[in-house]
Amino acid sequence: MTKAIKPTLKLLALSAAFLPALFIAPAIVTAEEISDEKVIEHYEALSPKLQAGYAKSGHPVSTDYFNWDRYTVGPHKSSTHGGRFVHNYANDLAKAYGKYEDIGTLPVGAIVAKDSFKVTKKGVKPGPLFLMEKMATGFSPEDGDWKYTLITPNGKIFGETNGVNSKKVKFCADCHNAVGEDQDYLFFPEEDYRVQN
Ligand code: HEC
Repeated sequence: MTKAIKPTLKLLALSAAFLPALFIAPAIVTAEEISDEKVIEHYEALSPKLQAGYAKSGHPVSTDYFNWDRYTVGPHKSSTHGGRFVHNYANDLAKAYGKYEDIGTLPVGAIVAKDSFKVTKKGVKPGPLFLMEKMATGFSPEDGDWKYTLITPNGKIFGETNGVNSKKVKFCADCHNAVGEDQDYLFFPEEDYRVQN
């Protein structure tokens, strides 16, 4: 947790390599340099607001996820999720998430959630809640039967696989599918930020 700079540099290098592919790359470049400790402070201060916003969606996960086990030692910057800082949580059925690359395949009902926020020169801004829920076989066979949901900071369901605005969250599966079924289409946080079990 003392190495605030290293992951950032690594992400910058990655962003540069994938610049044409990463629609969110500019957010990384303009984001403020900031210590892990400061990011944790921001998260603690912002949490009640984040949770109140997501709860407006009425989505059952929005009022529950923060009681689940957390798999990140602190919010980590996710270049693939708009350069936001994210914290990864998983429900009881998704306990094997903590085995990371040795995860196997999660059971139906497993849910992984990430809340998020952005730190810009203008201050701290709530970001969306990102969800992946394992559905029954046949729900979305080409995407590992994962349902992707994006809930905005104001509690709107922006999109949900096979539900409201399903097309708007197709890009989630398109990227997660790149990692393949060996690790159940999950990417996991960078090693420095993982809770080790
Ligand atoms: C360009 C690639 C890309 C896109 C697009 C993308 N993700 Fe991810 N996702 C990742 C990577 C890389 C991680 C691991 C790092 C992290 O946690 O941010 C991840 C992690 C996650 C996790 C934690 C589970 C895991 O894989 O470890 C969830 C939940 C998630 N994404 C949901 C979503 C949703 C919902 C969308 C669409 C709204 C989305 N993602 C779009 C690449 C992507």
